[in-house]
Amino acid sequence: MDAYQCIATKLDQREFTSRTVPTEVKLKVLESARLTGSGMNSQHWRFILIQNHSNLRRLAEASTTGTWVENCSFAVIVLTNPKHGFHMIDAGRVAQDMQIAAWNYGVTSCVFTGIREERFRKDFNIPKDLNISIIVGFGYPDRKLSGKKNRKASQRTCLPRNLRKHI
Ligand SMILES: Cc1cc2nc3c(=O)[nH]c(=O)nc-3n(C[C@H](O)[C@H](O)[C@H](O)COP(=O)(O)O)c2cc1C
Repeated sequence: MDAYQCIATKLDQREFTSRTVPTEVKLKVLESARLTGSGMNSQHWRFILIQNHSNLRRLAEASTTGTWVENCSFAVIVLTNPKHGFHMIDAGRVAQDMQIAAWNYGVTSCVFTGIREERFRKDFNIPKDLNISIIVGFGYPDRKLSGKKNRKASQRTCLPRNLRKHI
């Protein structure tokens, strides 16, 4: 899939089949995280791979807005160091890179940020100095996806007239 097509059709999907994502694809997703650029190339992030069902269930129980993660094939917890003012930008970039890399192989995903922090830190042994920035869950979609996005058309109105007429 070309890069634009991948971005244009990727949806955040929360329902998955029980099919396991193959190791080669999982490694591509993780490598995409490692290869993402970070502010001042500081690479302050840490990633925790969650891939067995009991740990995915634990992850769901420690979340407030991502209970769907229980049915994922695997998930990645993205930790970033808040001493860097830009750490949340880095977290967002790494999450998106992983999602796009996965979608290229037909693997869908979604992210969540709502967590029960105390429980989460205890269950996944998170170091005190790192922020639990975003969690990404991956799996095969349980249905054929439309590829259509619900986005504001009004955001195109900021385009100059000569570009707008080509849409
Ligand atoms: C910063 C950020 C935080 C998000 N947090 C959650 C979340 O906590 N739980 C969830 O189910 N989805 C979460 N999402 C997913 C959004 O709801 C999703 O990206 C948006 O609805 C667009 O989805 P679409 O690309 O499938 O149209 C989050 C997305 C972003 C970018």
